[in-house]
Amino acid sequence: MDIAIKIITGDCLNLMKNMDEGSIDLIVTDPPYNLAKDYGNNSDSREHQEYLEFSSAWLKEAARLLKPTGTIYVFMGMRYISYIYKILEVDLGFKFNSWITWHYTQGIGKTKGFSPRHDDILMFTKSERFTFNLDDIRIPQKTFRSVNNMRGANPGNVWEFSHVHYCQNNRQSHPTQKPEALFERMILASSNIGDTVLDPFCGAGGSLRVCQQTQRNGVGLEINPNYVELIKERLAQPFTGFDSLDERLTRVPNDLNDPKFRREYLKNHIEWFLKYHPDAIKKFQDSVNKKYLTNEQRYFDFNQ
Ligand SMILES: C[S@@+](CC[C@H](N)C(=O)[O-])C[C@H]1O[C@@H](n2cnc3c(N)ncnc32)[C@H](O)[C@@H]1O
Repeated sequence: MDIAIKIITGDCLNLMKNMDEGSIDLIVTDPPYNLAKDYGNNSDSREHQEYLEFSSAWLKEAARLLKPTGTIYVFMGMRYISYIYKILEVDLGFKFNSWITWHYTQGIGKTKGFSPRHDDILMFTKSERFTFNLDDIRIPQKTFRSVNNMRGANPGNVWEFSHVHYCQNNRQSHPTQKPEALFERMILASSNIGDTVLDPFCGAGGSLRVCQQTQRNGVGLEINPNYVELIKERLAQPFTGFDSLDERLTRVPNDLNDPKFRREYLKNHIEWFLKYHPDAIKKFQDSVNKKYLTNEQRYFDFNQ
């Protein structure tokens, strides 16, 4: 399927006003949190009331652009998340679905108080009728049981993904780059191939990279032209797997003792859970061999 990725430079408030009502299936976005981050040509340091007005204004446009079956995911820090929740539910009439916690495992230290280790993501839908592809985002079961659905379990609303570190190839020159794997889960769950996904604050373009690789049309808006150039370069890179990984995706279920079931399950595992993480297949295969080597006294041959 032919899909298009559009990146437009400018203020999303103006750009969204020129887009067609009901033209978007899914919005995933990570707006500035009002934490005085340096995004180059724009301010992330507004007065409290001014930040709320800015948030209301872009969310109102987001509501206009979404189809009646559409979904919106908004990243937000602790300081403003309750206000964003209220705007979405009370002012704009969205339906609450999930409050997702992104546990990023490592981060800045605090000497008076507890060091922050999570950001949160609000998922709201425009109506009760919306896309949710659970099969595309399941995680492997811990144990093989005939009563378990070996196709996998729901990943839950606490998502553990590490930040993209400075030593990683995919680290971009952007102060708040989010892991692609976060966008992967939202986009696979809440849109279908050929749908149109909008990110009004697309930063270093992680959401667009996921759209490109999962065959969604992507529209990214970004006010800083330097970031737009960076995204274009990023989208031209060969794909080796989305950055960051939910470690549960490489786990090998316990009690897969029957060689017949094991063989069938292991082949499916790669297709079901590691489709967009080819770089993690080796780790999974090593875990299989470590766990089941004693049962068959030989390495599992994935090509059989
Ligand atoms: C939190 S960052 C997004 C980071 C992005 N999710 C990533 O993974 O790289 C917010 C971005 O919004 C951009 N921005 C701020 N105000 C904007 C506006 N009014 N319109 C469009 N982009 C804006 C900033 O330049 C910044 O890159």
